[in-house]
Amino acid sequence: MIGKDLQYAIQLLKADAVVAIPTETVYGLAGNALSPKAASTIFEVKNRPSFDPLIVHTSSVERIAGLTTEMPEAARQLAQRFMPGPLTLLLPRAAIIPDIVTAGSARVAVRIPAHPMAHELLASLDFPLAAPSANPFGYISPTTARHVEDQLGDKIPYILDGGPCRVGVESTIVGFEEGMVVVYRKGGIAVEDIEAVAGPVAVRPHSASNPAAPGMLRSHYAPSAPVVLGDVENLLLRYPGKKVGAIRFREAASGIPASRQIVLSPSGGLAEAARNLFAGMRRLDALRLDVILAELLPEEGLGRAINDRLRRAAAE
Ligand code: TXA
Ligand code: MG
Repeated sequence: MIGKDLQYAIQLLKADAVVAIPTETVYGLAGNALSPKAASTIFEVKNRPSFDPLIVHTSSVERIAGLTTEMPEAARQLAQRFMPGPLTLLLPRAAIIPDIVTAGSARVAVRIPAHPMAHELLASLDFPLAAPSANPFGYISPTTARHVEDQLGDKIPYILDGGPCRVGVESTIVGFEEGMVVVYRKGGIAVEDIEAVAGPVAVRPHSASNPAAPGMLRSHYAPSAPVVLGDVENLLLRYPGKKVGAIRFREAASGIPASRQIVLSPSGGLAEAARNLFAGMRRLDALRLDVILAELLPEEGLGRAINDRLRRAAAE
C-alpha cells in the first residue's frame, strides 16, 4: 500500500516490520537498524545475499557518534559540509550495531538523508533505520513510490510516498584507510566536491571478488534487455530488424522511434540527467526490447556516477 501516513510507518517500524521510505537519492527499504529481526527481513524481501551490508540512516551527526567509535577529522569535515545529503561515511562501528547489518565488518555505513519526510521519520524514532535501495537485489534502484510498489508491493506492508527522488542516484560512499580518503561508490555528491573538502581521494569503485569489502558487485542495475555502450547511431547498424531502444544525454538518435528513447537532459544538465536515469531505464525495460544502446556522459561531476551505473547495467 502506498500512502503518506507517517504515524502508520512509525508504528510498523516500531513493531520490527519493514517500510519503504523516500530519500533524496532513491527509495530505501527500511527497518530498525538495531534489530537483527528487522534486518533479516530486509535481506529476505530484497533477496539480498547476506555478505552485502546495509547503510544505517539517522537524523543528526550527534546520533552518528552513538553508532560509531571514532570520527577522523576528514570525516568530520565531510559530515559538516554534506550532511544531511547524499553522502555515506564508512566508520568504525559501535557494538550496538548488530553483525547482520554490517555483514560482520568492523565498519558501519552511516548516512543522514536530506529528504524532509525521511528526516521527520528518523527524528521521531529513537532507533536508526537500516535501508538498502528498495529494489530486488541486482535490479535498478527505485526513484518513485510506484517503482517500489511494482516490484515489492506484495512483500511489504507500506510504502511511504515522498514524491520522485530529487537526486536520483545513490549516495556517494566514502571511507578512510590509514589517513587516506577513499571513494567506494560514486554517487549523488561528485568526487570533485569531496576533494574540495578532503583533498585528493582514491577512487576504488568496486571489488567483484570480495563485494563485502566495501561492496558493490560489478553487474548491477540490470534491465532484462542487454545494454550496449557506445555511439548509438553507429551501434544501431549492428542490429537490423531488432527492437532497439536508446539512452542518450541531450537529444534523440535518428533511426529509432522516439517512444523507445530516453533523453536524459535536453539542456545538458548532469543533475537533471541523474534524476531521470533510473526511471528511464525502467521505462525502456517495460518495452521488452531486444537491446538497449546507451551513450556515456561526460566523465565529470555527476556524469561519473551516471556512467558508473550505465557500465554496471551493461556488465555481463
Ligand atoms: O543513497 C543510498 O545510499 C540509498 C538510500 C536508500 O539511502 N541506499 C543504498 O543502499 O544505495 P544499498 O544497500 O543499495 O547500497 C549500499 C552499498 C552496498 O553496496 C553495500 O555493500 C555498501 O553500501 N555498504 C553498506 N555497509 C557497508 C559496510 N559496513 N562496509 C562496506 N560497504 C558497505
Ligand atoms: Mg542498491
